[in-house]
Amino acid sequence: MSGARIPPSGAVNEQRLWQRHADMAKLGGTPKGGVNRQALSPEDAAARNQLAAWAKARGFATFTDPIGNLFVRRDGIDADANPVMSGSHMDSQPTGGRFDGMYGVLAAFEALEALEDAGIRTRRPVMAVAWTNEEGSRFQPGAMGSAVFAGHYRLDEMLAQKDWKGVLLEDALAETLKAAPTPLRAGPPGFPVDSYVEAHIEQGPRLENENKTIGVVTAIQGSRRYIVTVEGEEAHAGTTPRAARKDAYAAATRIAAAMYAATTDAEDTLRFTIGRVEVAPGSPNTVPGKVTFTIDMRHPQDAVLETHERTLKAIVAAKAAPCPAALERVTNVAPTDFDPKVIGLVREKAQALGLSNMDMPSGAGHDAMHIARLCPAGMIFVPCERGISHNESENATPQDLAAGTRVLVEVLEALANR
Ligand code: GLV
Ligand code: MN
Ligand code: MN
Repeated sequence: MSGARIPPSGAVNEQRLWQRHADMAKLGGTPKGGVNRQALSPEDAAARNQLAAWAKARGFATFTDPIGNLFVRRDGIDADANPVMSGSHMDSQPTGGRFDGMYGVLAAFEALEALEDAGIRTRRPVMAVAWTNEEGSRFQPGAMGSAVFAGHYRLDEMLAQKDWKGVLLEDALAETLKAAPTPLRAGPPGFPVDSYVEAHIEQGPRLENENKTIGVVTAIQGSRRYIVTVEGEEAHAGTTPRAARKDAYAAATRIAAAMYAATTDAEDTLRFTIGRVEVAPGSPNTVPGKVTFTIDMRHPQDAVLETHERTLKAIVAAKAAPCPAALERVTNVAPTDFDPKVIGLVREKAQALGLSNMDMPSGAGHDAMHIARLCPAGMIFVPCERGISHNESENATPQDLAAGTRVLVEVLEALANR
């Protein structure tokens, strides 16, 4: 059997992949076993340096673009062919897990290494990417790097964003790139990409409940984010009678209660979350003068989101008195349908590898939703323990992570040899 071709999935190294997750988990690691590696923080810079060091050790070129997306490139035979790309994000929620995003980056990097180890040359280059600020936790909006790359968000507008402490994104990005220097690709962000495949933990319980290893992702539901601002009047908590109060927090709770009621659908399909509330001045004995809170709302159908947006606006108008209040939309990402050929390829490769699989839509947002508007794209999910994510206890097995990566590298090789 000498000379038999080793498929690239045969060169995926489960132990190496798992160790890389452990190494990355130290960067921003929290006492509860999760990570706090928010976008453009020193911990994010450390993760970038780590990925670049691994790339250098394998002889892969690395570069960044003006929004800080970090690319790793394995050359193809045809120097002019557009690359096949795979990746995800290395930033985390403030109390995030070790796998959300990082798995997609490390799976892509493992795919490059597996191709290298199997001695496989592809026609097209294959690239791994770590997109900047997917979480949108520190800087809004999320999936920022991929959206700028795809031309959906303007670079200058993103550089002007501030975090909740007032730090300018442009400054945080400059600090990060100073701490993690990588050659900068000149010119505006974005370049032609042949196709894109992103691996990710499912972040929900379906694969585990159905005892399946691979999720063949068909679509991503639409999502919109808002900020509600309620203006009150600061006053003494002990002396101010009810009629004279303009209590911004009392108004915000009336608004929030009405919104929860209006978004509780019988089918349990609409997702409505108030994830951040700021009460100013934040003193126990001063009536709150200002409240801001965020809303994250998602549904597979854009028309449903549109209807509910009108309802939310009406609630703000109806429930705020005596406090002026406003609802501002921050992002609006339409539902994404992935490319039927890429979906078919993921399913075919999972089956060929003997891995149980099921088609499923994604409830979470991913960078793939922006890149899917540039080129044929798809995603691969693997199970995570009890479906828990955006939580420090997020967990996945080395076997499942490797299985998803085996599917990924087979899909990437097929795409790169078209
Ligand atoms: C990404 O983390 C999302 O909020 O879906
Ligand atoms: Mn993610
Ligand atoms: Mn996330």
